[in-house]
Amino acid sequence: MDHLLTEDQKMVRRTIREFATEKVRPGAAERDEKEEFPTEILGQLGELGFMGVTTSERYGGAGLDMVSYTLVIEEISQVDASVGLIVSVNNSLICNTLEKYGTEDQKQKWLIPSATGKMLGAFCLSEPDAGSDAASIQTVAEPDGKGYVIRGTKNFITNGQHCDIYLLFAATDRTKGVQGIGAFIIPRNTEGLRIGKKERKMGIRSSDCCSIVLEDVHIPKENRLADEGMGFKIAMTALDSGRIGIASQAVGVAQAALDQAKTYAKLRVQFGRPIAEFQAIQFKLADMDMLVNAARMLVYLAATKKDRGGRFTTEAAMAKLFASDMVIKVTQEALQIHGGVGYTKDYPVERLLRDAKVTEIYEGTSEIQRFVIARSLLRD
Ligand code: CAA
Repeated sequence: MDHLLTEDQKMVRRTIREFATEKVRPGAAERDEKEEFPTEILGQLGELGFMGVTTSERYGGAGLDMVSYTLVIEEISQVDASVGLIVSVNNSLICNTLEKYGTEDQKQKWLIPSATGKMLGAFCLSEPDAGSDAASIQTVAEPDGKGYVIRGTKNFITNGQHCDIYLLFAATDRTKGVQGIGAFIIPRNTEGLRIGKKERKMGIRSSDCCSIVLEDVHIPKENRLADEGMGFKIAMTALDSGRIGIASQAVGVAQAALDQAKTYAKLRVQFGRPIAEFQAIQFKLADMDMLVNAARMLVYLAATKKDRGGRFTTEAAMAKLFASDMVIKVTQEALQIHGGVGYTKDYPVERLLRDAKVTEIYEGTSEIQRFVIARSLLRD
């Protein structure tokens, strides 16, 4: 599939692959085991421009296209899906949104540090009673003359404990439904904001995920992004880009599983021959390779649509749906090819299967992606 990439994109891939191999891969299993957040790696990624891949250079980013961004997330996720997720949230949900909707002051204050890896962002949409039904959020931002007082609880917040800023969605006027939701930037150390329950997850264990409790959190008007009722639209457009990032993460995990299964199949001897010589294994590997490449094509398609400036909601949903479904199949087959050892922690394939599952859940479940695709199909 290299013929689909420009020389510049291949150069980006070479750079991130080298970094991922040298700096991210070595501690990945240990970080997973200890649930250890990769702070140092994020700083280094920031120096290389990978915390704001598509952010303009004047705001501290690398100024690259969306296809390059997918390569960055895929390559990082091949060695550590937790790092892939953290970088994806900061890029697609935070930097991308700040650049699109922020004022010049907001960009100076929050975008530049986020894109250069000096600050880390978290996206606070989900709540205990508002997951797939994002419009039903209960957190309120009550105007108080100078700004807003925010009260509520957000949950499943990626980067929640380690971030510096939260991009948070809250209802400013419940009578207006989705038109009554605002988007706000809340610095980490704001009075009244505290970290709640830390989730102990099945996979992506070195990324951090927790709830955030807001008790009378006062923020000035300048911390509101765009107009007061724009919050829901901002969240949805952010998630369109986010879903391309998660699809890229899934492709990365699946490619790693395929590579490991191939290596193992060539080494493992049974019935007097490497198991790669048996058609049962060859057919599995062939299907896995085809699925990984098909998902990657959908990722490039969605990213290219974004690069060309059109709305890419459906393409992003298709890429995420297909890639997350694919990565489950591919990691399961990779583990099956490994047999008994695949089920142990002696081989990385069990981590890949654990990491894969969440791609069907976060940034919109597979059911929500089907809903988005079907709605667009039936609208025409
Ligand atoms: N782009 C721009 N605008 C959009 C949009 C998009 N992709 N999707 C919806 N909108 C607009 C609509 O046009 C509509 O605007 P008007 O009222 O002006 O017409 C408005 O938003 C309301 O849209 P809907 O009628 O579609 O709203 P809905 O209540 O039916 O919900 C939904 C739609 C697709 C189900 C949405 O709620 C959704 O995506 N749910 C999933 C939530 C989700 O993905 N959560 C992820 C949590 S974050 C996370 O996981 C991050 C992490 O840390 C890893």
